[in-house]
Amino acid sequence: MPVKILMVCLGNICRSPLAEGILQSKLPPEQFLIDSAGTGGWHTGEQPDKRSIQTAKQRGLDITHQRGRQIQISDFDTFDYIYVMDNSNYKNVMALAPTEEAKSKVQMILNELFPNENVDVPDPYYGGQNGFEQVFDMLDDACEIIAEKLKAKH
Ligand code: 4NP
Repeated sequence: MPVKILMVCLGNICRSPLAEGILQSKLPPEQFLIDSAGTGGWHTGEQPDKRSIQTAKQRGLDITHQRGRQIQISDFDTFDYIYVMDNSNYKNVMALAPTEEAKSKVQMILNELFPNENVDVPDPYYGGQNGFEQVFDMLDDACEIIAEKLKAKH
């Protein structure tokens, strides 16, 4: 059974699709299953934002197959690790988590880089392409650490 990791943001079209694609590119697919979801359901069934697709493409990643979905209670059983992008996502996901074990799976993704600082991955939705590139760089650094830890542990 693969280890399963879920990336969560608000809309599941900007940040978490990038996080999904980046972590996937750093881990062997037979051993690790990576998915993403939004706390909101407005973009269910949609492709990632064009700017996320473009930024990923520039860095050699194809995320066009991804489709938006909303997080569901069963995700807390399905997934072993749940990484959220910001404090608002953290609050919303923790409020949904049905058990203490479920809560213990939820982490702020940038705490991998800045332990205990609870730094947000800024929402790039209302900005330009530049914001997406900055988000990509942060997520790439965090996912590098996550991938090394996961490979060492599993
Ligand atoms: P994301 O960005 O959470 O990184 O996917 C957003 C995308 C869409 C919306 C909000 C945030 N929205 O309100 O539609």
